[in-house]
Amino acid sequence: MKLRMSCVVHLSSTVGTAVLLASTSATAPAPAKSAAKPLAAAKASPAKVEANLLQLMRGILYPASNVIFAAQEDLSKQPVPPDASTSPNPLTTTYGGWQAVENAALALSESANLVMMPGRMCSNGKPVPIGRADWIKDVQKLREAGRAAYAAAKKKDTDAIVDVSGTISDACSACHDVYREKKGGVQDRCLP
Ligand code: HEC
Repeated sequence: MKLRMSCVVHLSSTVGTAVLLASTSATAPAPAKSAAKPLAAAKASPAKVEANLLQLMRGILYPASNVIFAAQEDLSKQPVPPDASTSPNPLTTTYGGWQAVENAALALSESANLVMMPGRMCSNGKPVPIGRADWIKDVQKLREAGRAAYAAAKKKDTDAIVDVSGTISDACSACHDVYREKKGGVQDRCLP
């Protein structure tokens, strides 16, 4: 039987380094020669940062991962809510079951965009290090993990979800090992 992943927040990393040679172009800064246009586009964008990085993690990444991890077990065993249309458990809403797992996977991939938004701060007031190459790579791992989870959810494939849960957990801890778990405490978070 495969190892079930649960609370990734406390897992230590066993991440391989050979992953992720694939394109990071979607998140990488534009090359210098075309810098003017994307900058203008960014200025015109009505997108605004609303949460610090910690709040974003707690509000979107953490609950979305837990929905995916839950799909390592039989989803039909989720407690039946009195009314699916108002259930606070994504797995038992009107869009519950495997559809909720798909949605959580998409939330994870989309969260890769959110953690790259300019202007977001960490809980200690330091800017999220979106210009650093290793940060960008870690974010790409998160995106790929979300995409893999989406593919597994579409196939309703529990074994694939077990594998992908490991991939997600590794993606979270690869970044946490460097940018979150700091000997110096919270004030050193988001520093290399
Ligand atoms: C690219 C880097 C990166 C990735 C990927 C990442 N995190 Fe984080 N995470 C951080 C950093 C940095 C912090 C600390 C943020 C702060 O203090 O503002 C953090 C904080 C958190 C927290 C809050 C911890 C606390 O102190 O309460 C949770 C929960 C969390 N992450 C969950 C996840 C999960 C789940 C994943 C994977 C699906 C994930 N993170 C992926 C960088 C990352």
